[in-house]
Amino acid sequence: MTARLIKGKDIAAEIRAEIGQGVKELMAASGITPGLVTILVGENPASQSYVRAKQQAAHELGFHSIQETVSGQISQEELLSLIDKYNKDEKIHGILVQLPLPGHIDENKVLYAIDPDKDVDGFHPVNVGRMVVGQPAFLPCTPYGVQQMLIRSGVKTDGAEVVVVGRSNIVGKPIANMLLQKAPGANATVTVCHTRTKDMASHTRRADILIVAAGVPNAVTGDMVKPGAVVIDVGVNETGRTPEGKRILVGDVDFKSVSEVASAITPVPGGVGPMTITMLMLNTLQSARRWAKPA
Ligand SMILES: NC(=O)c1ccc[n+]([C@@H]2O[C@H](COP(=O)([O-])OP(=O)(O)OC[C@H]3O[C@@H](n4cnc5c(N)ncnc54)[C@H](OP(=O)(O)O)[C@@H]3O)[C@@H](O)[C@H]2O)c1
Repeated sequence: MTARLIKGKDIAAEIRAEIGQGVKELMAASGITPGLVTILVGENPASQSYVRAKQQAAHELGFHSIQETVSGQISQEELLSLIDKYNKDEKIHGILVQLPLPGHIDENKVLYAIDPDKDVDGFHPVNVGRMVVGQPAFLPCTPYGVQQMLIRSGVKTDGAEVVVVGRSNIVGKPIANMLLQKAPGANATVTVCHTRTKDMASHTRRADILIVAAGVPNAVTGDMVKPGAVVIDVGVNETGRTPEGKRILVGDVDFKSVSEVASAITPVPGGVGPMTITMLMLNTLQSARRWAKPA
């Protein structure tokens, strides 16, 4: 079998077109433009490039977007008061603090200072709690993107055996939680594997849908996959540079052997990656809609 490709790039483009339309409709109905502030602390090159991409997406979609770049020497108190300023700013519906933060700053204190109703990254415990109990919540962007990829590429999750490799707070745990909800695009039976899992292949081989977020190249190979399974590779690992200096990226799944067994697979790059920023934009639009019409 040669697996069909689930192209996040195309699905992300489809969702961005819907967001663009949503922005126009919101502005026509309420005069409100979705507002996003991205806060970058210090000069980490990877963080700079992520924030640039987020700002560019916000700009292209017609959002009111602000980039706050502050020194890596900023004190925790100063950073907290910057967040407070945007918590109170009526034109801002989404606040994103780019991680990681410098060591002298308590990351949790900063994330928990964001108004949960502007927490478009979905990392605040209030949103995590809402997600777990099945209430409307900002869903963390990467798992939200994975769920949308499944839904929009016609993969049935209802009653499916889902195995997630990885239990991080930003990918593994939330996607597992989202897919076991009693809700459309979920209703799965979910198993989560991690480094203490015994005989991981015995779990992955049962999966109708296998989601891999381990951060390890080739963590999953073809012999670990059930024939006909759908495989979502969240991993992004840099294995080197081209002679031109371009990053060479691979996922967590051995694409060659797995694509011979699976019925569908996400490529790296061009799979889950493009979905993450798109879901951040969708969360910001959804936030602006809520602020325009409080529940
Ligand atoms: N496409 C995107 O937009 C996007 C967004 C976020 C992350 N990512 C990528 O997704 C990957 C995972 O990210 P993350 O933040 O979740 O990573 P993380 O915080 O390092 O967590 C990795 C998880 O995988 C588990 N794990 C590691 N090696 C394993 C193995 N050999 N077998 C079974 N489990 C294993 C770890 O188990 P323990 O808990 O036992 O240590 C941990 O729970 C990375 O490659 C990252 O770059 C991509």
